[in-house]
Amino acid sequence: MSKCPETILVVAMIAAGLFAAPALAQEGDAAAGKKVFNRCRACHDVGEGARNKIGPHLNDLYGRSAGGLDDYNYSPVVKTAGAEGLVWNDETLAAYLADPRGMLPGNRMAFPGLKKDSEVTDLLAYLATFSAEQAAEAAPPAAAEDASSEPEAEAEPQPDAVAQGSPHGSAASASAPTQHSESSTGPRRLGRAATDAEVAAWDIDIRPDGKGLPIGSGTVADGEVIFTEQCASCHGDFGEGRGRWPVLAGGRDTLTRERPEKTVGSYWPHLSTAYDYIRRAMPFGNARSLSDDDVYALTAYVLYLNDVVTDEEFELSNENFTTIEMPNAGGFIPDDRASEAHYTADADPCMSDCKPGPVSITSRAQVLDVTPDSGGEGPAGGNFD
Ligand code: HEC
Ligand code: HEC
Repeated sequence: MSKCPETILVVAMIAAGLFAAPALAQEGDAAAGKKVFNRCRACHDVGEGARNKIGPHLNDLYGRSAGGLDDYNYSPVVKTAGAEGLVWNDETLAAYLADPRGMLPGNRMAFPGLKKDSEVTDLLAYLATFSAEQAAEAAPPAAAEDASSEPEAEAEPQPDAVAQGSPHGSAASASAPTQHSESSTGPRRLGRAATDAEVAAWDIDIRPDGKGLPIGSGTVADGEVIFTEQCASCHGDFGEGRGRWPVLAGGRDTLTRERPEKTVGSYWPHLSTAYDYIRRAMPFGNARSLSDDDVYALTAYVLYLNDVVTDEEFELSNENFTTIEMPNAGGFIPDDRASEAHYTADADPCMSDCKPGPVSITSRAQVLDVTPDSGGEGPAGGNFD
């Protein structure tokens, strides 16, 4: 008795030709099939020197038993189906590729299936060109040539070829603009150009040099009123943070500690971030509800809570905004990792056998208490402290 009666049934149905095959490989377009195969390529190799990847290589697939490669570790489902007579041909491949899990429940190919019959037909025409049996008997030689000839015949430019400006690439990139204009007016008609008003509504970022600041102003005293009404419920009256809501003030000189307290005052290098953030995202749950003047007032108040300004009558505006120096302004350096010796000297990173000598275990996650107690699965799951 087999463990998988369904498999037997499916195999029997296939043998009896009960799956309607969309068409034979000869009817498909191998060049189009090559593109469909891009969806398989992550897992399957085909052609000269093809190797097993996540899935088995697909050379000489026609006439091969399911699970028929000795050097690939198939799931029992595929192995069993092959042992019980499933052989790959137009009909069986069409059924499998349309619905891999439906046909062989429990097989390991994580692919939902091809929706269109024409995709299956084209793909099979392409795969057939790599099958000695098919290529000799059935596939017209033209299809074989088509599939092996490189980009000229391709409708879609290969991105890397365009970037490298190879002879093939220039041919491909020359055709690219036509393609683009075709698709924006063509049958797909996806999207439309954003209107000026829509762009303006999104274009609200403010740069450290003050670029993007709206005209306006607000005082610490104005800000305190708004803060008490709209912000203190989460951030506390003095920016100390209620419960687990973020702390907005304090934390100076804690950055070198093991648990630094990062606030607008202790950490943020640019005041523009505070204005931008409050205007864009606060109050939490009611973002973009504040006027530009409200945001100036609130930003002034956050400065006051952080002792960056001390006068309640201080007024922050687009005019004096960039004169404010944040306490941690000097605490950041430009990212120069790309120029570090490590990166400049060693262009090819080591990818195998990189550790000289034998590997030794220096610590165990369990001892570090990273692994949670497994709850009594025997002594190995216990915790060590
Ligand atoms: C995410 C990875 C993945 C993708 C994508 C994928 N496959 Fe597979 N394929 C597999 C795995 C894994 C197996 C082995 C299944 C098993 O043993 O249960 C397999 C098995 C197969 C088999 C059976 C081969 C044999 O030797 O019995 C064929 C035929 C096949 N795939 C074709 C395709 C085609 C054609 C596509 C694209 C339309 C595709 N696969 C997409 C992973 C994938
Ligand atoms: C309902 C609770 C709530 C209210 C009310 C609220 N905030 Fe916030 N605030 C948050 C949360 C949550 C975050 C963190 C959001 C995140 O990290 O995605 C945050 C982050 C911030 C930050 C950045 C803090 C940091 O260090 O990353 C500032 C500044 C801020 N809020 C100011 C305000 C101001 C000003 C108001 C009043 C207009 C306000 N918030 C109202 C919940 C609130």
